[in-house]
Amino acid sequence: MMNAAGVACMTVEELEGVKNSAAGTFVTKTATLEFRQGNPEPRYQDVPLGSINSMGLPNNGLDYYLDYLLDLQEKEPNRTFFLSLVGMSPEETHTILKKVQESDFRGLTELNLSCPNVPGKPQIAYDFETTDRILSEVFEYFTKPLGIKLPPYFDIVHFDQAAAIFNKYPLKFVNCVNSIGNGLYIEDESVVIRPKNGFGGIGGEYIKPTALANVHAFYQRLNPEIQIIGTGGVLTGRDAFEHILCGASMVQVGTTLHKEGVGAFDRITNELKEIMTEKGYESLEDFRGKLNYID
Ligand code: SIN
Repeated sequence: MMNAAGVACMTVEELEGVKNSAAGTFVTKTATLEFRQGNPEPRYQDVPLGSINSMGLPNNGLDYYLDYLLDLQEKEPNRTFFLSLVGMSPEETHTILKKVQESDFRGLTELNLSCPNVPGKPQIAYDFETTDRILSEVFEYFTKPLGIKLPPYFDIVHFDQAAAIFNKYPLKFVNCVNSIGNGLYIEDESVVIRPKNGFGGIGGEYIKPTALANVHAFYQRLNPEIQIIGTGGVLTGRDAFEHILCGASMVQVGTTLHKEGVGAFDRITNELKEIMTEKGYESLEDFRGKLNYID
């Protein structure tokens, strides 16, 4: 279990908090080449069944996260951490990935193809042609372990088309899912976040069925070398169990981590262990991907 990019990962202090919790690892806030202020506040709001955000990729810039990770891998050589990144253009994405390639970073890189919150920049992974082109260009020079953060897909044909593209590349993982983009949450007669007149990515309880569907759809379609990270609607050990049952190798916690703090990892892990004990499962492999269907 680990944080989802965007939560508890903007600063070294926050990343240390996740690292020193019951989480197995952490992922950084998605880094762009340079520091970004992001969208105007208020830009994140917890709501009863989840959250809505339009952060707009605020972050401290690639070097801030990369320097910390390079230092950390010397101090904790037996642990593996994730660096999330994306450029504000395909060119910038290549510049960033080339810097990571040329560095001594030995962890996992997550290319975020799914941010819904930068005005004028559509979610890259909804454009299959662009996604295919970026991945084909990236794998001409990038030889370190790389995965991609995906938006939710909602159509079986789109699962098929996306999987056909991802299966062409030596991806280490896909992460399903980022927030469901561009929802609206209203209190009284007003939106609750300032950017984009209130439109923002939805997380939390609202999105678990969509997240599970995406995890399972890609588990059914991707080459077994491409592992799945399950993200979306993880409040309890039961939710983590369902993500693993759908095929997830790792589970990320976003909105719940924001609401509850890093103690959530300990609680969810214990709840998951209790479920496994009740069912007589000794390892995750006993139930990973073994979702039952109705004949
Ligand atoms: C944001 O910074 O807007 C959130 C990041 C994301 O959804 O990818």
